[in-house]
Amino acid sequence: MGEKFYVTTPIYYPSGKFHIGTAYTEVLADTIKRYKQLRGYDTFMLTGVDEHGQKIETVAQKAGKTPQEYVDEMAELAKELWKLMDIKYDYFIRTTDKFHEQTVQKIFDYFLKNGDIYKGQYEGWYCMPCETYFTKTQLVDGKCPDCGREVKLLKEDAYFFNMKKYADRLVKFYDENPDFVEPAYRKTEMINNFIKPGLEDLCITRTSFDWGIKVPNDPKHVIYVWLDALTNYLTALGYMQDDDTLFKKYWPADVQIVGKDIARFHLIYWPIFLMALDLPLPKKFIVHNWIVMKDGKMSKSVGNVVYPEKLISRYGLDATRYYLLRIMTVSQDAIFTPEDFVEKYNSDLCNDLGNLVNRTISMVNKYFQGTVPKYNGTPNDVDKELEEFTQNKLKEVEELIEKYQMSNALQELWTVISRTNKYIDETRPWELSKNGETDKLQSSIYHLIENIRKVAIYLIPFMENTAKNIFNQIGIPSNLQTWESLDRYDKLNSIKVVEKGEPIFMRKNMEEELEYFKNN
Ligand code: MSP
Repeated sequence: MGEKFYVTTPIYYPSGKFHIGTAYTEVLADTIKRYKQLRGYDTFMLTGVDEHGQKIETVAQKAGKTPQEYVDEMAELAKELWKLMDIKYDYFIRTTDKFHEQTVQKIFDYFLKNGDIYKGQYEGWYCMPCETYFTKTQLVDGKCPDCGREVKLLKEDAYFFNMKKYADRLVKFYDENPDFVEPAYRKTEMINNFIKPGLEDLCITRTSFDWGIKVPNDPKHVIYVWLDALTNYLTALGYMQDDDTLFKKYWPADVQIVGKDIARFHLIYWPIFLMALDLPLPKKFIVHNWIVMKDGKMSKSVGNVVYPEKLISRYGLDATRYYLLRIMTVSQDAIFTPEDFVEKYNSDLCNDLGNLVNRTISMVNKYFQGTVPKYNGTPNDVDKELEEFTQNKLKEVEELIEKYQMSNALQELWTVISRTNKYIDETRPWELSKNGETDKLQSSIYHLIENIRKVAIYLIPFMENTAKNIFNQIGIPSNLQTWESLDRYDKLNSIKVVEKGEPIFMRKNMEEELEYFKNN
């Protein structure tokens, strides 16, 4: 086995069905994992659910369930969705897992003993009906941001984590590790918005609700979500437990993926907790933006939420994965529209990719009775241009994937597809056949199959089923589906394509699809 690679996603609040935003994070992590696997790494991907806290207590109550019953059901739903989306996680952590709860208590104790945690008083604006504290800036017109009612300034005993103590060390770490965060401007935001104005100590317990991990020896206090939630990345690997083999092997994380709203917790508090535990910090964070709708954030009350199941059932998993990864450039919010979805489905997947595969298969059948002709090893000028363009471009795509810029990577990969389609028009195999130019015809068809094979290898991490479908239809054996086999142009031998190609994506009618989106 190769070098280790550990990738994590956030653990999600199971307060409802997951939408395409949550699905995006998961697909991104899964794509990274599959890519690293293809490159021979020994990978581990962690995901899960963040099950404690007041919000969960409240939604469970509304659903007439105990919090435990509620989270048990939700965890199953989450797992079902990830199964449907073929997410290849290695472990699904639940913060109600006993080993997690016990380890969080050990960590709390450890911090307390080292003087990183102290007892003080928490002061905040409290909404009685919602039983929730807010900071002054969270209030809307001085009232509760959730229910709009009056709030009161209250104080309670609470434990704090001494963040201030570590502020300088964190800034030094940022300076010494310029690649720690992608995109880099998120780091600047942290420094300017939270560290320069003076980092505040973090209140890590509450007494106003009960659904959480109890403070050891002071059970009136419940550990408030972030210390509980963030440490999942360690506890899932067996950290501070009898069997910590996974921890020893996989920590530190190679890449941690988070959305922009939880950047602060991951780029400030998490590294500081790790420093206090004397552990190495993750190598990299990807902070992505959000998938939003034309009318703003997806929200149940607005009724504009898009669920992944709706896309998958009509367009298939791979089209859904493609679209999510294609629209989200790391540094901007991506706007989901049904028009754009159908447009990209038709143009990128059906026309560009699908037609290339289909046309090529029918030409192999028509001109060579289904067997890909041999390559004579000397490309003519047109072939040479195609070879050079493809090899250079694929290198570029590889570099983009290595930087986790999946949208750009797909965009560039599609230029190889377009270039290959253009090559059909340049070489005009039907004329070569008519004129009896066998050498050129052989070379043209060979190059088409070879380029499709190369593109399909690149598609494996993004859309594995599509890649496999292509390999099957053009008859590529498994030893030629590997990354290592990408290096040259003369590897194909006795390749037989299917007699009749099946379209890999079926074209859709825009109007009918817009109706589907309206009615479902
Ligand atoms: N439970 C915390 C995370 C704890 S991690 C130690 C949490 N959960 S969440 O369910 O609210 O959000 C999980 C992730 O989903 C976050 O990274 C968030 O940015 C992401 N997204 C939520 N809505 C999103 C979109 N509309 N688009 C993309 N990602 C979105 O925060």
